[in-house]
Amino acid sequence: KVGYKLVSAPDVLIPSNISESMNTEFIGHEILYFEEIDSTNNYAKKIAYEGCKDGTVVIAEKQTSGRGRLGRTWESGKGEGIWMSVILRPDISPEAIQLITLASSVAVVKAIKDTTGIITGIKWPNDILLDGRKLCGILVEMSSELDRINFVVIGIGINISQDNKDFSEELSNKAISLKSYISQNKKGVDFTRSMIAGKLLTEIE
Ligand code: BTN
Repeated sequence: KVGYKLVSAPDVLIPSNISESMNTEFIGHEILYFEEIDSTNNYAKKIAYEGCKDGTVVIAEKQTSGRGRLGRTWESGKGEGIWMSVILRPDISPEAIQLITLASSVAVVKAIKDTTGIITGIKWPNDILLDGRKLCGILVEMSSELDRINFVVIGIGINISQDNKDFSEELSNKAISLKSYISQNKKGVDFTRSMIAGKLLTEIE
């Protein structure tokens, strides 16, 4: 007769879950959550053109047309990863954009290490590797004038729970997820996608 205790909750990327592990001044104060979207980067660019706030985040459980670099597709199954875009309006020159990519890669490595203890590597400038396979990719897109950035969209895809068989044949020996690495290496760490997402937004800021 003392009430109920919630012992676990589904790992859904809703803003209230993410903000529990986030500590930022402006990034992620507006998080737009979708169960399904074509591409978080497409949506982020649309709302950036419409004037959304600096630091707005778009996140989805599933992308139907996730995009990678060089026109490739990005496999983004439901609940299997963190598919997220951050909109920034930095006061830097367009040539300095590469710094944003580098800083984002470092932020991903730090967020994963702080949350799971797992140390990943960067294939510069924007791939994160684990066991020599791709764990995360970053697609930075921007709108600028000659001397001024209008906005930058940092699109981040982190593979979290796919088994080898969940990846397409083309990716099955090139990609890896955090949970498959953990089970192969018997690491037994417990984490949620929201914890990594919140920490990642903090590191990016
Ligand atoms: C790459 O390595 O080719 C970059 C992959 C970037 C994927 C992310 S997932 C979230 C965001 N939305 C997209 O459509 N792409 C990026």
